[in-house]
Amino acid sequence: MASIVASDQAERPIPDIEGLAHPTVEERGRQRFCSALRRYAIQDMAEAIQKDFEERVKPAREAKGVNFASARAIEDAMADQPSYQLYSSLRYNAQEMCFLSVQDEIERALQDMIELARDAAERNPVGGSLRLDPDLVIPRYLSSLDVHLTPGCFHNEWVKDDVAQGAVVSLGARVFSASMSHRSWGGVARVISRWIKHERPDFRPLRMLDIGTSSGKNLIPYVENFPGVEAHGVDLGAPLLRWGHAIAEHQGVPIHYSQQNAENLDFPDGHFDLIVSSFFFHEIPVKATRNVLKECRRLLRPGGLMVHQELPATCLVDPWEDFFWNWDTEHNNEPFYTSFRAQDPIELMAEAGFEADRSFAHILPDIGAYPDRAAAFAWDEPGRPRHGKGGWYVFGSSLAQ
Ligand SMILES: C[S@@+](CC[C@H](N)C(=O)[O-])C[C@H]1O[C@@H](n2cnc3c(N)ncnc32)[C@H](O)[C@@H]1O
Repeated sequence: MASIVASDQAERPIPDIEGLAHPTVEERGRQRFCSALRRYAIQDMAEAIQKDFEERVKPAREAKGVNFASARAIEDAMADQPSYQLYSSLRYNAQEMCFLSVQDEIERALQDMIELARDAAERNPVGGSLRLDPDLVIPRYLSSLDVHLTPGCFHNEWVKDDVAQGAVVSLGARVFSASMSHRSWGGVARVISRWIKHERPDFRPLRMLDIGTSSGKNLIPYVENFPGVEAHGVDLGAPLLRWGHAIAEHQGVPIHYSQQNAENLDFPDGHFDLIVSSFFFHEIPVKATRNVLKECRRLLRPGGLMVHQELPATCLVDPWEDFFWNWDTEHNNEPFYTSFRAQDPIELMAEAGFEADRSFAHILPDIGAYPDRAAAFAWDEPGRPRHGKGGWYVFGSSLAQ
């Protein structure tokens, strides 16, 4: 009898941790407002300030001899313009409000969320795992600020087995991105998977790694696209990993999460066929980027593939786009945006030991915007979409067999 109870326990499915959050009508309304405000700032107002720059500010300054060949010159000219100040202020506040708008519903459900995640970690009913390291030193580039204005950042914990930051990042990001076109949930992983299948139809990764996985939303789609792959996700934030592990176990996708610094991972050499990341490198200093790429080189097996989705490098975009991306450096607690983007990705990878002629930096078509095209856009291809507007910038490399 006792053994029947034990096996029932092992098989009991993990409920949906996100389903424990129940926003009130007022909270939901506020979240919708925050989504719309952010969208208005980052899309409509961004277009309006570009027009203001092109039609008013630029001609007036050029008449005085100013040259607008760089983002820095545009920044200097726009800093005291009311149009830019209003845009900047709205964008900053909308960003903060998106995350704040989910806090009350999370606080009400937090204890149940913690218990659900603990149960998932103890039972692993679909065969994933969660490995945390309470002694891991969080680097200063993460511990000294709330990255992209997320209150509490990624790693902070206030109670035992805390999942609050997993909930804030995950539910807040839904508010943050709800109205953004071309940004579907887990969409980047689907875009990259489609491209890999197109480029290398015979590629069957046995083991893969997602660096800076957060709660794995851009990891789960790889398992769906490459059935049977042993999937690993690493991150510094324990609350994110607990949250992501509970979601994966609920969704029936076995994922092995571990809390590690990607600059110094504990996997053996040549352990992975596929290494990916998304929205990761711009959050760490260039020195750390070099260390992580060296780790990727060490961990990739011969014949393996590495693909990182990121923000386009300065050398690949025009000064206005450069100025647009660099906003976050000064205003969004993302101090490494500009210095990361200033690097040539092919050179960075070459320093880490990847051959330049096996390396790439290009735009992949978004699935919603280009349902019938899997091939990458050449940088100079007419009609190539911009990163974030129908396309996704990726860089990476592969190793010979
Ligand atoms: C913007 S999030 C990326 C989220 C996720 N990849 C996605 O596509 O939604 C960046 C993540 O990188 C993690 N991170 C930053 N530095 C790290 C490091 N040195 N090692 C491992 N993870 C790191 C942060 O904790 C955070 O969860």
